[in-house]
Amino acid sequence: MISRAIKTNGMLAAMAVILVLLCSNGAQAQLAQLAPLPAGVQKNGLPGPLQDVGIDQKLGDQLPLDLQFRDEAGGAVKLGQYFTDRPVILALVYYDCPMLCTQVLNGLDRAINVLTFDLGAQFEIVTVSFNPRETAELAQAKKQEYLKIYRRPGAANGWHFLTGDQAQIDALASSVGFKYALDPATNLYAHASGIMVLTPGGRISRYFYGIDFAPHDLKLSLMEASQNKIGSPIDKVLLYCYQYDPATGRYSLMILRILRVAGAATVAALVLFILFANRIGKKRRRETPLENFAIAFIPFFPPAASTHASKVDALYLFLVAVAAFFSILIFVLIIYFAVRYRRRSKDDVGRKVIPDMRLEMAWMVIPFVLCMIIFVWGANVYFHLSVAPRDSMEVFVVGKQWMWKFQHQDGQREINELHVPVGRDVRLTMTTEDVIHSFFVPAFRIKADVVPGRYSSTWFRATQPGKYHLFCAEYCGTNHSGMIGWVYVMEPAEYEAWLGGGATEGSLASNGQKLFQQLGCSTCHLSNGQGRGPRLEGVYGRSVLLDNGETVTADDNYVRESIVDPKAKVVAGFQPIMPTFQGIVSEEQLLQLVAYVRSLGSGEGAGPEAPAALPGAGGNIKR
Ligand code: CUA
Repeated sequence: MISRAIKTNGMLAAMAVILVLLCSNGAQAQLAQLAPLPAGVQKNGLPGPLQDVGIDQKLGDQLPLDLQFRDEAGGAVKLGQYFTDRPVILALVYYDCPMLCTQVLNGLDRAINVLTFDLGAQFEIVTVSFNPRETAELAQAKKQEYLKIYRRPGAANGWHFLTGDQAQIDALASSVGFKYALDPATNLYAHASGIMVLTPGGRISRYFYGIDFAPHDLKLSLMEASQNKIGSPIDKVLLYCYQYDPATGRYSLMILRILRVAGAATVAALVLFILFANRIGKKRRRETPLENFAIAFIPFFPPAASTHASKVDALYLFLVAVAAFFSILIFVLIIYFAVRYRRRSKDDVGRKVIPDMRLEMAWMVIPFVLCMIIFVWGANVYFHLSVAPRDSMEVFVVGKQWMWKFQHQDGQREINELHVPVGRDVRLTMTTEDVIHSFFVPAFRIKADVVPGRYSSTWFRATQPGKYHLFCAEYCGTNHSGMIGWVYVMEPAEYEAWLGGGATEGSLASNGQKLFQQLGCSTCHLSNGQGRGPRLEGVYGRSVLLDNGETVTADDNYVRESIVDPKAKVVAGFQPIMPTFQGIVSEEQLLQLVAYVRSLGSGEGAGPEAPAALPGAGGNIKR
């Protein structure tokens, strides 16, 4: 713990050093860029006067607001009159400039065009010509030119193009650190390019260099200059996450601040969610003490409406309790150790820790025991959920993009609705026509994947009449979220009435038997055992000897496989001559055939559909 703390401190220190280096590097680079070039050095073909050109940052300095200029109409104005309650962007240019100045103003125009702030309403722009020979007429022409591009109402009152005398210009330029020089050879000015953002009171808040100004940076700087008087709350969060870097004149992300914002947002979202979920939870009525406990402390529980619920919930609560116990323990220890073993002086050195064997054993043995408890307990619940009691009522389920189809033993069919009696074990035999789905009834605490090409099964015994959600819990395509339905749990008498109500086309097994005849299965699977295929009476549920010496249990999956892929497991003593019925029979017909084979019994008394009652019964599906 001690060495870890030192490590963390070390890392933080290293990061701080790197940060400082990064920043100072940037600053040096910037200084080099802004520093006057040595005399005689020429850049871009511009002659000597360039040495006095650049922008010296004077962040925080106050502008002399009593300077006198002329506005576009030629009237005398005081610089201070443009500083009211709004931030001001100041651009020092000259209107006749053949190069940079036009670019600066164009860049500014581009940037303010996409701002949500309106020029004249949320901020002002003051453009001042540093060429004392320029006239108000020229300023007026420039103004019209740029307003034409901007085209927002009120802009004319927000963008000012001033001209003035040399002395006033010099005072303004030096107050913002703007250095320029007239080149007598060309009669053009050498000057740096950039704009300044000023506070409503006339202090210098931000510098931006170049001719291209990121609207995002400009927006943040205007908000800062206005002391957050403009901008939406979201903008203010953004401003908190970005910080102005004077070296580059740009805003960069503050990762740590972002993490803080994200962390606070997560906590707020969690608190809101818990409050919200609790309110919804309280509206529902609960029955057992366990549920009352669950609703009081954990608002995420669906109703418990099957005999599985208490078993699954107990395991779940145990897992939550173990996780909560150790999370809290670790948090408390972190805080305790951080205080107890804090660094007390600069040259504090951690004590060497001698490992204690008992401690080492403890944190191996305790997790092992806990994991084994969870494993044995979980396996126990899993097997309980997987193996249906023998006398369960049967329901067949076929999943399909994007619906659930049900078939009852007596032939009733349903889609996205399943009616079952209360207090009765119900076994679900499930498959799918297309992709994997997952049959999920939260109130029963059952969830089982439904896989193409095989039967999976689960079971439940509903304990309370009512209507419960049925979901697909496996992403199965576009409308997966719409693959939902209801399970109706009814009183037995009510259920009988419901069963009798719908018209059916015969029971599953009798439909399977008809199919068995139609498909010609009965010509080979003779009941006297003399056919080309094995006799099917009494086969279901028994073990079958195969021609490769292995044995399989003749369960649903085996019967299904023997129909769609007869050569996979051939019964000993028979030839692999049976054709496949893959693609010929649908999943629902397969279920009917399976139900028929089931009805032929396992030899210990017939199933609900006695074979004797079926005319011509006595086929076989296997060779
Ligand atoms: Cu079916 Cu998701």
